[in-house]
Amino acid sequence: MIFYFSGTGNSRWVATQLAAKTRDQAQDIATLKAVPALQQETQIGLVFPIYAWGAPEPVCAFAKTLPKTEAFTFAVCTCGEEAGYAMKKLAEIWPLRSCYSLVMPNNYILGADVDDEQTALRKIQKAEAEIRVLSEEILERKPVYRVQEGAMAAFKSGIVHFGFNRFARNTRAFYATNACNGCGLCAQSCPAGTITLSDGKPVWGKLCYQCLRCIHSCPQRAIQYGKSTENRGRYTLDRYLKNIGR
Ligand SMILES: Cc1cc2nc3c(=O)[nH]c(=O)nc-3n(C[C@H](O)[C@H](O)[C@H](O)COP(=O)(O)O)c2cc1C
Ligand code: SF4
Ligand code: SF4
Repeated sequence: MIFYFSGTGNSRWVATQLAAKTRDQAQDIATLKAVPALQQETQIGLVFPIYAWGAPEPVCAFAKTLPKTEAFTFAVCTCGEEAGYAMKKLAEIWPLRSCYSLVMPNNYILGADVDDEQTALRKIQKAEAEIRVLSEEILERKPVYRVQEGAMAAFKSGIVHFGFNRFARNTRAFYATNACNGCGLCAQSCPAGTITLSDGKPVWGKLCYQCLRCIHSCPQRAIQYGKSTENRGRYTLDRYLKNIGR
């Protein structure tokens, strides 16, 4: 079983491909009601995006519920650039035999703009080739640690990641502009279930994973986060692939 969490589709795409190549199933953590029985599983994988050099909080919470297992355990993270010690920290919660990072298009538009089309395509094509290799390694049950950690990983995955979870993950700066037509997609698809519609406009509650699905997926491009996102692009993998005809 391959469990995944994904804001804008990169990690879902990786999990789905991995599942197909290793004859397994991909399961979204955000829609799980309870952890399924895993006694018969020969492999258990986790796939997720990197948030501030760490694993997303719902992934860590889910990993804590996983049983000890004889199955081959592995994790694959997707990141715009580097993962720090995210995988080493996750392995402290749930032992991992193999860890990988895959560089994918960046969706952190609160900090920088989306990748240009060529950069995004180059990342996706490289990731596709890497997925072929790591699927074989997983099938061979080969223990591998191939993670792009980057510089100052201990600091970034320590204090910076702690600060992200403690202070950055709030919804105060989200708002919908007049372009919103009240379609309700943001409320239906928020993995934290934090968005409701009031008078046809989204209202954000307190819990937020900062996956940025709401802001990237809005068909009207109506969601903003403070002033930082007005002039930045939007990205979901599905839309990107459709735009380039794939
Ligand atoms: C809140 C947040 C923090 C992020 N932090 C990092 C980071 O520390 N390093 C990095 O390389 N990418 C970072 N990213 C980029 C994502 O990890 C990357 O785009 C990922 O592939 C998105 O996956 P998804 O489409 O499955 O959500 C961050 C994205 C978000 C939304
Ligand atoms: S997805 Fe966009 S258009 Fe639809 S309700 Fe949410 S903010 Fe409004
Ligand atoms: S409010 Fe937006 S960013 Fe926060 S968890 Fe929901 S979809 Fe993700």
